[in-house]
Amino acid sequence: MTDAPRPFRPPPYPYDRLAALRESAEALPGGVVDCSVGTPCDPPPPTVVRALALSGTERGYPSSAGGPAFRRAAADWLARRFGVNVELSAIAACVGTKELVASTPHYLRLRNPGRDTVLCPAVAYPTYAMGATLAGCRAVAVPPERPDGSGLDLDAIDPDDARRALLLWANSPANPSGGLTDLEGLASWARRRNVPVFSDECYAEFTWEGSPRSILQSGSRGVVAVHSLSKRSNLAGVRAGFYAGDPELVGYLRDVRQHAGLMVPGPVQAAGAVALADDEHVTAQRGRYLERLELLASLLTSAGCPVAVPAGGFYLWVPVPARWPDAWAMAAALAADGGMLVSPGDLYGEGGREHVRVAVVQPDERLRLVGERLAAAGWKGDDRQVAGEGRQAPGDDRQAPGDGRQAAGGGGLEARDDAMGIESATAARAAGGGGVASPSAG
Ligand SMILES: Cc1ncc(COP(=O)(O)O)c(C=O)c1O
Repeated sequence: MTDAPRPFRPPPYPYDRLAALRESAEALPGGVVDCSVGTPCDPPPPTVVRALALSGTERGYPSSAGGPAFRRAAADWLARRFGVNVELSAIAACVGTKELVASTPHYLRLRNPGRDTVLCPAVAYPTYAMGATLAGCRAVAVPPERPDGSGLDLDAIDPDDARRALLLWANSPANPSGGLTDLEGLASWARRRNVPVFSDECYAEFTWEGSPRSILQSGSRGVVAVHSLSKRSNLAGVRAGFYAGDPELVGYLRDVRQHAGLMVPGPVQAAGAVALADDEHVTAQRGRYLERLELLASLLTSAGCPVAVPAGGFYLWVPVPARWPDAWAMAAALAADGGMLVSPGDLYGEGGREHVRVAVVQPDERLRLVGERLAAAGWKGDDRQVAGEGRQAPGDDRQAPGDGRQAAGGGGLEARDDAMGIESATAARAAGGGGVASPSAG
């Protein structure tokens, strides 16, 4: 018998597993309301689209690291948003951040062949663990701090895993829970152990509790912040992001990635620079997401699925009420009765199995349509057994909805279910932390 490594067979892509649910939602008059993937539905600013068309950069190869205009715009935004100053040489472009997340363990292993471990949040964006797998490394889950799956319980990390760690991924505000992480505490824990931290901050602009935070506010030694234009500027289709921080880590990745031929196309860099220089469209987008979060939290709570607005991000992380045995059963009921496609929480790790994730990436009228469908199907907040009666698993004695149980969101504000509440909460939060931080915010 040999110990030959087993061949890697790609598992089904997480969202491809939703095909049957999509079909059931699609069958309703008016069709599916797709809240499964975090793909923006609102347009990018016209100035950005114009730059995409008119940059005149098509004929030559673009700079792999990102040209000076793109990196300058990124540096200026980091200074405005977080009050941090980063040299242009410590900033580099990536082709959207998913490829960076998926490929970084492989490249860091070349830098440090003695290490073989990637530390990832246990309930998280699945590409953190997939990047470890693609590099032939171990993905080790860091348990959450809070029962909803958010935060990182650093004390639970085995010292041997820390010694073997190529990097630790953090994500704040987090997908899927919306929770925030103490990035300063994390950075000092990691510096003491010489573990590089990659801090995925793609939802930073959509921070609802306090000001947006970056790990770079703790200094750049040993840490890299990862930012995306996909969410901030509704540019998921053009593939643009950047990473910034520790000059040695950024420089190493920049050089390896240049050899690998990774380049953000010139027109995309030009559009990205325009988007990064503009904060007005982000303020408008924050308002849209916050209103949708409050609207959908209210509709779901009224329908017997209590949920709170998260501390950040644009996902509702909805606890599975007692009448369903698991997240897949709840997702099936939401598809069949509400025509809404959501993501069962175990797509983000086993610890997510008692939640579903709902992305508020549909216009208000589509979200209202879901509320109307659920109401017509008899979903109510104040019954112990509402729609889906009979679906309750035998022996499942979890509390029913509408009985005062604290909804998800660990520290999130309570969902309001009256129009006045929604408006006043929205206005208050859009005002608090809604503007651009002054340079002294960090
Ligand atoms: C936490 C997180 N990181 C990274 C990404 C990748 O974004 P992009 O590749 O569009 O920059 C996503 C996308 O949903 C995400 O949720």
